[in-house]
Amino acid sequence: MKIFLDTANIDQIREVNDWGILAGVTTNPSLCAREKRSMRECLAEIAGIVAGPVSAEALSMSAVEMVAEARELAAIALNINVKIPMCVEGLKAVSRLAAEGIKTNVTLIFSTNQALMAAAAGATFVSPFVGRLDDIGNDGMAIVEDIVDVYDTYGIESQVIAASLRHPMHVTQAARAGAHIGTVPYDVLVQMVKHPLTEAGIKRFSEDYEKIKHL
Ligand code: G3P
Repeated sequence: MKIFLDTANIDQIREVNDWGILAGVTTNPSLCAREKRSMRECLAEIAGIVAGPVSAEALSMSAVEMVAEARELAAIALNINVKIPMCVEGLKAVSRLAAEGIKTNVTLIFSTNQALMAAAAGATFVSPFVGRLDDIGNDGMAIVEDIVDVYDTYGIESQVIAASLRHPMHVTQAARAGAHIGTVPYDVLVQMVKHPLTEAGIKRFSEDYEKIKHL
């Protein structure tokens, strides 16, 4: 499973990019709002740092407006794809954008049927939101498993981005479920690097080396 970073924070993106693990970035208006910068300026900077795909969200309500907005967003950089919300207007926009070769990420997916329709319309990526389903007492990861299973059955090429991941176990479960990509908040990625036995092991090796380094 590829790892994307779910943030619009430039410092976090630069840091994780340096780790050598970063395959892409997803943003949304809430994440961009935290940075208190123009979304366009922020996206251009992110797309210049990361080699892989960067998702930028379209906020229009009609298919015609979504397509126009998506063209503008996609023109910012070659690696930008456009997040389109799952709805009838969104499906129309995705099919028109697919015909133009503009990559899309259908977002706010909460069911397998929504994922089937997004793929049929020509979505490059689909983003089921795991944590938000868990929040309302559903099993968010079961939707990821089901979408991957159905896509495999029919040879569907849209890639599944497990999104709204909130903790390290979500990432492991998304990988086990066969998600193509997991988009992960920075704090969760930092937690994933660490293990108490690794920390203890580094400390002990370092202390033991101190005892013999003069020899
Ligand atoms: O990738 C979607 C993500 O940003 C939503 O996460 O935690 O707001 O449900 P969350």
